[in-house]
Amino acid sequence: MLIAGNWKMYKGRRATHEFVEAFEPPPGVDVVLCPPYVSLREAAAGGVRVYAQNVHWAAEGAFTGEVSAPMLAELGVAGAIVGHSERRQYFGETDETVARRAVAALEAGLGVIACVGESEEEREAGQTELVLRIQVEALADSVGAHERLVVAYEPVWAIGTGKTATPETAHEAHALVKSMLEVPVLYGGSVKPENAEELLAQEGVDGALVGGASLDVDSFTAICATAARIRS
Ligand code: 13P
Repeated sequence: MLIAGNWKMYKGRRATHEFVEAFEPPPGVDVVLCPPYVSLREAAAGGVRVYAQNVHWAAEGAFTGEVSAPMLAELGVAGAIVGHSERRQYFGETDETVARRAVAALEAGLGVIACVGESEEEREAGQTELVLRIQVEALADSVGAHERLVVAYEPVWAIGTGKTATPETAHEAHALVKSMLEVPVLYGGSVKPENAEELLAQEGVDGALVGGASLDVDSFTAICATAARIRS
């Protein structure tokens, strides 16, 4: 069971330091923190496994504002998220660029959490399966079932909205992803200490990618503890 905390654009160095000082991951669960780039080093120094929130496909080059996989590895970063819906929605990320980023990260020895998920309009139009198939196929074709690849199913309508997928919806989506790509699949979208148990108990749910609730050390620890309890 893997619980990853995606801090998005929250927590600079000081707040990161305070968090990792106070955070004691419960035994029996893999935990990853994904702080902003500027806080990666601070988080890693706290002894936690750390992933970046994105990574470029080239090792170096004229790509202003980007950070490469070898640079992250040198910093002691263990992996990267790719294809988060906020990257797809606001920064023009496509299935092709997501796949290129994933390939480069894996080649550099990093782990990858690749995000997929349908929007509210797509779900209402009955296109969930089609959207997931296209997104997962791009990963299956370029990367395949790599041992350091994890997929996160994050329905866009559940991110930061307080709406969560029902355990059945999550189960269905995870089964679809796994039928195309045999890798662990995390659920993401308004995971909180109050709903973690019913989501994580679903067959095919191998962990969670937590946004808002990962910013508070107590709620993130509670979710990690729930995961550890379910696994044992
Ligand atoms: P919330 O947990 O805040 O809904 O965010 C989910 C997410 O986007 C994690 O990557």
